[in-house]
Amino acid sequence: MTTATPTTAPDAGPSPPAGSVYLPVPAEITAVSKLTELENLYAIRLPEGRPLGHQPGQFVQVSVLGVGECPISVCSSPTRPETFQLCIRRVGAVTDHLHRLEAGAEIGIRGPLGHGFDVREMQGKDIFIVAGGLGLAPVRSLVQYVLDERSRFGDFHLFYGARTPAELLFREDLTRWRESNAVDFYVTVDRPDEQWRGKSGVVTRLFTELPPLDPEETMVVIVGPPIMFKFVVLEVLSRRVPQKNIYCSLERRMECGVGKCGHCQANNVYVCLEGPVFKYGQLKALREAIE
Ligand SMILES: Cc1cc2nc3c(=O)[nH]c(=O)nc-3n(C[C@H](O)[C@H](O)[C@H](O)COP(=O)(O)OP(=O)(O)OC[C@H]3O[C@@H](n4cnc5c(N)ncnc54)[C@H](O)[C@@H]3O)c2cc1C
Ligand code: FES
Repeated sequence: MTTATPTTAPDAGPSPPAGSVYLPVPAEITAVSKLTELENLYAIRLPEGRPLGHQPGQFVQVSVLGVGECPISVCSSPTRPETFQLCIRRVGAVTDHLHRLEAGAEIGIRGPLGHGFDVREMQGKDIFIVAGGLGLAPVRSLVQYVLDERSRFGDFHLFYGARTPAELLFREDLTRWRESNAVDFYVTVDRPDEQWRGKSGVVTRLFTELPPLDPEETMVVIVGPPIMFKFVVLEVLSRRVPQKNIYCSLERRMECGVGKCGHCQANNVYVCLEGPVFKYGQLKALREAIE
């Protein structure tokens, strides 16, 4: 483990005004860029450039007037507060409409909502993140946070897997991370194409690149599809990392995002309130959500 400075986490900024949890705040899309065929990246500005005041791993409810609302993870770090970013996959009514909007358009934002990663608990520890597919979106907020506050954390390992090279998200970040000494970063694709020169195979193949961990001093974050989670957690547990050191983030269908409608319920837990980020120990009680 490298030497880290465990001090108080920087303030993520002032919280949004009371009421915005129920009432969408009008916000401006300041930039849109295409990440893949299905995903766009949006920069969003709140009125008066106010910070969102989120923690990495939290989400917002994004609304389009007359169309609807949907939960989207914040994919930028609170350490970069001028605007915040959302990576949105086009799958249905709301996200399709969002993909037709350009810079200057207005949308509604409720939040930040839910529980994110406890960055204060992570301070002074080694960090190991494994992300699969769209799971890189919530994780990118944490990656940026650790990089921006690098001296507060120990060793930093990051693995990312996508199905194909065309589905890789945040390519500019991937290049930057690969070239950086601040993070030990590896990426793989399940199905390489002819141009792909990197690693191939499922994300667990990358574990051959992982140096021995200091299990008690390592915080692990796993975000991806349930099948990936299942195999990655086995690898991590086999390295004797305690369950209390393992975080993951769950995606459930949500409506209200604030514990009122029951749409997100898994067993007896409202994922919108107690999650989407959980410790592995908590998740084992939420079989419905991970099987
Ligand atoms: C906490 C949380 C964080 C999320 N973060 C992101 C993110 O960062 N980026 C992103 O692109 N998406 C994210 N999602 C998923 C996103 O909310 C859904 O894709 C969105 O609600 C779809 O809305 P729609 O109106 O466009 O599609 P709809 O018309 O409602 O549905 C279109 C299709 O997508 C399916 N679908 C809808 N919601 C989900 C879901 N939650 N999981 C799986 N399938 C679903 C439907 O069954 C249907 O087949 C997140 C979801 C949650 C709960
Ligand atoms: S989304 Fe309504 S209770 Fe969780």
